[in-house]
Amino acid sequence: MGSRSRRSCSFLVAGFVIFSCICLANGSDFHRQKSRVDSRKQHSSCNVYQGRWVYDESYPLYDSSACPFIRKEFDCHKYGRPDHLYLKYRWQPSNCQLPRFDGQDLLNRFKGKKIMFVGDSVSLNHWQSLICMLHAAAPNSSIIRQELNNNSISAVTFQDYEVSVMLFHSLYLVDVDDESIGRVLKLNSIRDGNLWKDIDVLVFNTWLWWYRRGLKQQWDYVEVDGKILKDIDRMAAFRTALTTWAKWVDSDVDTRRSKVIFQGISPSHYNGTDWNEPGVRNCSREMMPFNGSVYPTGLPQAAYVVKEVIGSMKKPVHLLDITSLSQLRKDAHPSSYNGFKGMDCTHWCVAGLPDTWNQLLYAALIS
Ligand SMILES: *[C@@H]1O[C@H](CO)[C@@H](O)[C@H](O)[C@H]1NC(C)=O
Ligand SMILES: *[C@@H]1O[C@H](CO)[C@@H](O)[C@H](O)[C@H]1NC(C)=O
Ligand SMILES: *[C@@H]1O[C@H](CO)[C@@H](O)[C@H](O)[C@H]1NC(C)=O
Ligand SMILES: *[C@@H]1O[C@H](CO)[C@@H](O)[C@H](O)[C@H]1NC(C)=O
Ligand SMILES: *[C@@H]1O[C@H](CO)[C@@H](O)[C@H](O)[C@H]1NC(C)=O
Repeated sequence: MGSRSRRSCSFLVAGFVIFSCICLANGSDFHRQKSRVDSRKQHSSCNVYQGRWVYDESYPLYDSSACPFIRKEFDCHKYGRPDHLYLKYRWQPSNCQLPRFDGQDLLNRFKGKKIMFVGDSVSLNHWQSLICMLHAAAPNSSIIRQELNNNSISAVTFQDYEVSVMLFHSLYLVDVDDESIGRVLKLNSIRDGNLWKDIDVLVFNTWLWWYRRGLKQQWDYVEVDGKILKDIDRMAAFRTALTTWAKWVDSDVDTRRSKVIFQGISPSHYNGTDWNEPGVRNCSREMMPFNGSVYPTGLPQAAYVVKEVIGSMKKPVHLLDITSLSQLRKDAHPSSYNGFKGMDCTHWCVAGLPDTWNQLLYAALIS
């Protein structure tokens, strides 16, 4: 295995705060559900990722204070977020219904199996939400939490179902190796894939770190096609790394056994021009989603790169296309309601938007 140094900074966010603790919370559990599958409306042309946010009194899907593992970065309710409207929106696809999230069903279907999120702190965010949703569905199942493989993997196992929900910390998916010249980002190499390829469900994500420079940049040189460079066009680097990932899936992953999901681009909200409020510089006053189905600035370029690379693959990979629906949710970030009081318009409150990502993940897994 290569260097682990890249992992020590995996969760640097919104400034220079390093994620450190796991917050324990308790309280009563509840799980209310409302929306039902309307099979008459389900048809193959339906795109569940196209739709709008609608107010739904039955939301959220669980009480976050009953979830055992929400980190202080995401636990907006605990850290005093006064408005609760952001918890009350349900994603409504235009031409079909999302299946109701059924955590018991998910645990039963994947009995004895492993589900792994691979990526940066957005994956951590996504993973935490799924743990809360499964815990709400099976509150009496005993849970064990382990750090594995020299802390590169965090695993939460629902023992009664033998289902492990895991997180593999990786900023770029491709390798970063410590070498004599410094840390080298290797765009053509994805050695950690050996640890991923036998997992039953894989949910990948990378984007947040590709444009980071200076102290936040987690490499000193970049290696591509055998050449070592000091820097490179970042979008080209992202595309090359994704292509390396795609080739690895095509050659090394048995997709009859393992389901492979790639999560779309998780957007940030620091520039109000994006949502027709020029002058706004963060998400601190956002309490409602953008009204409508179409975000004014359109999709980020990286989302097109993801679509192109996945579209060119031989093996079936599901694009969990959360970009556009998440762009509309300028209200769903922690802002300063987190355990470090920093302004965070990059990650998302839990409970909150990542629960919808998991509803969509569930829909993809059962279809
Ligand atoms: C485990 O991680 C530490 C810190 O990142 C590193 O120094 C050590 O070499 C790693 N051990 C192995 C066996 O990879
Ligand atoms: C969990 O256990 C409690 C106490 O034994 C019981 O009242 C409750 O119905 C159980 N919940 C579920 C979902 O099995
Ligand atoms: C916000 O976005 C607009 C349009 O893309 C751009 O012109 C402007 O420079 C951005 N503002 C900041 C502070 O980055
Ligand atoms: C966030 O934006 C508000 C108003 O738009 C501003 O007053 C505040 O200083 C900003 N906070 C940070 C930390 O950027
Ligand atoms: C959202 O837009 C619709 C039509 O475009 C309008 O009827 C509605 O009042 C708007 N809602 C809010 C909260 O602005």
